[in-house]
Amino acid sequence: MEDSILVTGGAGFIGSNFILQWMASEHARILNLDKLTYAGNLNNLRAVEADPRYRFEQGDIVDRDFLRTLLRREHPRAIVHFAAESHVDRSIHGPDDFVRTNVNGTFSLLEEARAYWSALPEPERVSFRFLHVSTDEVYGSLGPDDAAFSENTPYAPNSPYSASKAASDHLVRAYHHTYGLPVLTTNCSNNYGPHQFPEKLIPLMILNACAGKALPVYGDGKNVRDWLYVEDHCRAIRTVLSLGRVGETYNIGGRSEKKNLEIVGAICGLLDELRPNDPAVPHRQLLTFVKDRAGHDRRYAMDARKIERELNWRPLETFESGIQKTVRWYLEHEDWVRDVTSGSYRQWIAKHYATER
Ligand code: NAD
Ligand code: TYD
Repeated sequence: MEDSILVTGGAGFIGSNFILQWMASEHARILNLDKLTYAGNLNNLRAVEADPRYRFEQGDIVDRDFLRTLLRREHPRAIVHFAAESHVDRSIHGPDDFVRTNVNGTFSLLEEARAYWSALPEPERVSFRFLHVSTDEVYGSLGPDDAAFSENTPYAPNSPYSASKAASDHLVRAYHHTYGLPVLTTNCSNNYGPHQFPEKLIPLMILNACAGKALPVYGDGKNVRDWLYVEDHCRAIRTVLSLGRVGETYNIGGRSEKKNLEIVGAICGLLDELRPNDPAVPHRQLLTFVKDRAGHDRRYAMDARKIERELNWRPLETFESGIQKTVRWYLEHEDWVRDVTSGSYRQWIAKHYATER
């Protein structure tokens, strides 16, 4: 039997970076199962699409019959579960898809994984893993002097997005506790890097600044996020998959807390150097304070000492090196940008940033 893993949501931002990194560093084949929502983009995987070790299958993680057939046919030794609705602002406008995919979808995947895993012969049953990719947002919001989130911080999700991810984390935990399914959960802080859909802070600001459009900062711009370069996150997931203790959760973070205003300032500074002929230079003049996000979490920070200590993982990029790479990537991939910012993207931006918001 061929050594293979199943990745869900591999056409999205983190999943596609994970697949590219996996193909460059590991031997096992990958089957990428993705529904291709607005956030899924097969252009992210051009570099591996001809590789015989990679295959794509379009499908929905809610669809149990589909999952059952796929698992029996592919016989993976692990499932790495990225598929989710992932944008907080969209979850505020319309939470339905978040509950459907993040909660019901994870439930379907767990049920079918359990049936598949239970029927495996002994050695394969022991080595099988279900790795669930989750977020720091499940822990809620920190005050300025609070200690960073640890694996023991109680869950206190505040947005429909984080509530749906928290629900999925609880289901994953219960499937280990009740049925013995060999699960691993990772909770990671904000990622940035190539392939991130430009509805999220960093790519949105890069693209708006280049186009001379307003840079919409919510509230007072002093909300803090702990930023991690996406390749460091992908390496952490590979590390947990191979070395993590079954049933454990691992917090992943960049030790890189920044206020949103600092992020926008860093992007503008880089663009001033790289694009001195843009419509608005210095780019900072485009900064515009807009109405705050409803229920906007003030601060996230991750205590990643467990994965550092137990699994010897550490981020390789600093924020300064990672943001340079990211800005350059967006400037060098105009076709990718043009592709994802057509049609439905424009409708989202028009609706979400409308003045009556
Ligand atoms: P993304 O929105 O870029 O990609 C999500 C992918 O899932 C897309 O390719 C989409 O087509 C697919 N998908 C959505 N619904 C599906 C369904 N019902 N069936 C099959 N596929 C479906 O998200 P991302 O930023 O790459 O995040 C990936 C995972 O990592 C998510 O679980 C998210 O909660 C988690 N996470 C993200 C961050 C971050 O900063 N982006 C941080 C920590 C954790
Ligand atoms: P985002 O990238 O949506 O990630 P998350 O909400 O999951 O942390 O937002 C990061 C931060 O940037 C968050 O505090 C909200 C803020 N933000 C803005 O100020 N303006 C924007 O246009 C967006 C999309 C986000």
